[in-house]
Amino acid sequence: MKKVIVTGGAGFIGSHLCDALIENGYKVTVFDNLEPQVHPGQLIPDYLNKKVNFIKGDVRDYQKFRDAIVGHDFVFHFAAAVGVGQSQYQISKYVDVNINGTANLLDILVNSKHKVKKIIVAASMSSYGEGMAKCEKCGIFKPLLRNLSEGIIVRERHYWEIKCPVCGKMAISIPTDEKTLLDANSIYAVTKKEQEEMCILIGKTYGIPVVSLRFFNVYGPRQSLSNPYTGVTAIFISRIKNNNPPVIFEDGLQTRDFIWVGDVIRANILALESEKANYEIFNVGSGKPVSILKIAKMLCVLMGKSIQPVITYKFRKGDVRHCFADVRKIKKLLNFKTTVPLKDGLARLINWCQTVDAKDDFEKVLKELKEKKLV
Ligand SMILES: NC(=O)c1ccc[n+]([C@@H]2O[C@H](COP(=O)([O-])OP(=O)(O)OC[C@H]3O[C@@H](n4cnc5c(N)ncnc54)[C@H](O)[C@@H]3O)[C@@H](O)[C@H]2O)c1
Ligand SMILES: [Zn+2]
Repeated sequence: MKKVIVTGGAGFIGSHLCDALIENGYKVTVFDNLEPQVHPGQLIPDYLNKKVNFIKGDVRDYQKFRDAIVGHDFVFHFAAAVGVGQSQYQISKYVDVNINGTANLLDILVNSKHKVKKIIVAASMSSYGEGMAKCEKCGIFKPLLRNLSEGIIVRERHYWEIKCPVCGKMAISIPTDEKTLLDANSIYAVTKKEQEEMCILIGKTYGIPVVSLRFFNVYGPRQSLSNPYTGVTAIFISRIKNNNPPVIFEDGLQTRDFIWVGDVIRANILALESEKANYEIFNVGSGKPVSILKIAKMLCVLMGKSIQPVITYKFRKGDVRHCFADVRKIKKLLNFKTTVPLKDGLARLINWCQTVDAKDDFEKVLKELKEKKLV
């Protein structure tokens, strides 16, 4: 039986991966520090598969991490601090967990006797910055990050949209592929980019296959409904469940690419089992842009509440306007296609969220962001 270790395996995506790995006949270890912001009370979550060998450990703890890794055939590196906004003021922590934690993983693999044959690293669409865009007159371009002021209220769509750098006309957003220049817009995004680069570099140097999967906006059951720093769907659900309106920055017409967690897990299994994936980077998204306003409205309707989202018409520093995946590479090399349409996925997510508590700490986060001049 092949042995797999999943760092961050007690989290949202990692725990689903554990289920799939066990179902596919792997022996699974989870290495996770049960970060209190994700796991209140630092308890092992009920949803964690009972067949998992659970080790409570921190990727920053070299000895413990080394002892955990060496006996495994494959590593999924999912452990990370995951709040985009929070990363802008907890810089040391984000760099420490995400970059130094990854450095530990690679240092262990280079300097210890082990049998690891592949590493799959959870990378992120956030590292792209703005997604690719096109001017109908001047052609395709990679937009620069927007340099807008916080605190100002602007209702005109033109203000928020990406403009052509040549003629100044409003551009349209087009799919972003893996070759696109990375232009990270937050410390979180910088650390995700570094994780990916470090893993690929050391993998190639020492002949350990690495696959980097750039997840887009993953949604599904087990998203932390009490971590107000991450996951727009989870944040909106926590608001709506507590009879508060979802709060939307800008004009709500900014778009993201939402992908059902089960689809993400299939991409991970393909990355593990296909040699064609080795040393490759893949977008893992649906390839379909959806506006934040639409998501908020869909959630209100699906949850049966007559709540209307509140649009602030304000900028939140670190947010991009549009980014959605070009999914041709993963389709071509791994024959991967998403299977769950957004409406069905959201309905399933909501079914699950009725069974768990949701703490709405959004106001607290907003206060923090205001204090740090990020909104
Ligand atoms: N959810 C998304 O939409 C999304 C998008 C892009 C990338 N990702 C990446 O996917 C991975 C999983 O994300 P998720 O959404 O499941 O997040 P999550 O917060 O639910 O899971 C992360 C897990 O890592 C653990 N962890 C945190 N710090 C740790 C440390 N120092 N040592 C050991 N474990 C630690 C946490 O306890 C948690 O169980 C992350 O690397 C994240 O950056 C997620
Ligand atoms: Zn133009």
